Amino acid sequence: MSYNLLKGKRGIIFGALDEHSIAWKTAERVSEEGGSFVLTNAPIAMRMGQINELAKKTNSEVIPADATSIEDLENLVEKSMEILGGKIDFVLHSIGMSVNVRKGNHYTDQNYSFTHKGWDVSAGSFHKVMQVLYKKDAMNEWGSIVALTYMAAQRVFPDYNDMADNKAYLESIARSFGYFFGKDKSVRVNTISQSPTPTTAGQGVKGFDGFIAYADKMSPLGNATAIDCANYTIAMFSDLTKRVTLQNLYNDGGFSNMGVSNEVMDTFMGE
Ligand SMILES: NC(=O)c1ccc[n+]([C@@H]2O[C@H](COP(=O)([O-])OP(=O)(O)OC[C@H]3O[C@@H](n4cnc5c(N)ncnc54)[C@H](O)[C@@H]3O)[C@@H](O)[C@H]2O)c1
Repeated sequence: MSYNLLKGKRGIIFGALDEHSIAWKTAERVSEEGGSFVLTNAPIAMRMGQINELAKKTNSEVIPADATSIEDLENLVEKSMEILGGKIDFVLHSIGMSVNVRKGNHYTDQNYSFTHKGWDVSAGSFHKVMQVLYKKDAMNEWGSIVALTYMAAQRVFPDYNDMADNKAYLESIARSFGYFFGKDKSVRVNTISQSPTPTTAGQGVKGFDGFIAYADKMSPLGNATAIDCANYTIAMFSDLTKRVTLQNLYNDGGFSNMGVSNEVMDTFMGE
């Protein structure tokens, strides 16, 4: 189904690694809704080459950028405006990585240079992206900026490790920068808090299979899929959500407001 919700709109989509990526599904849906965009990812992710398939399919160009590098981001924003023929209407920040998680370091035994790196990639990059857009006055009025997050920012999920702290910081940046983007440029900034989703980043979390099954049993509508997330993001990029800003929006089948479900209870009940 498509509704032409993004006809004539131009954007930048960060983080499409492979067909499982939430950013990949979002790019496909944006294209179906009539939006045009530049795809970007870290130069190292480009080497896997899959993003070119997506670019071909969606008739878009790819510009490599390490989202922690101001120089790369300035180049990305300038070139995107040239390629797309004007200012930007929507941006998706779909980036996350913890070196401590990758190296198997426990939360209570962090290597702080890994902690800094993971923070810079997962949270600091969101500030950097917005600061470059803001300084270059690159966003159109009533534009929309979305970053993806997870509920470990509010509640304890022990194996989510330092990503929980990175997500809390990311959500705070959305509010703090969202104020200035709203006041000065009439642009909205929100985070979407997504269910566990089987992607490369998701599956990096220890015990992911148990985690995703538990969330599904707890949620009255079941886990939100990557496509559900893409659809929600489309709504947030469209003119139908013009005055929604500074929000952390749950796309999680109801999980965040649950205490316990009958299905989960049943696994603890005797005969
Ligand atoms: N998968 C889940 O369970 C889940 C749940 C909630 C939120 N999220 C969030 O959704 C977002 C997208 O993740 P995903 O699940 O689609 O996984 P993914 O692994 O497909 O995407 C993560 C992306 O981050 C990119 N990236 C890493 N370092 C970068 C850098 N320095 N510069 C630019 N890009 C960089 C990777 O190349 C990759 O494309 C992340 O913010 C993630 O935390 C995921």
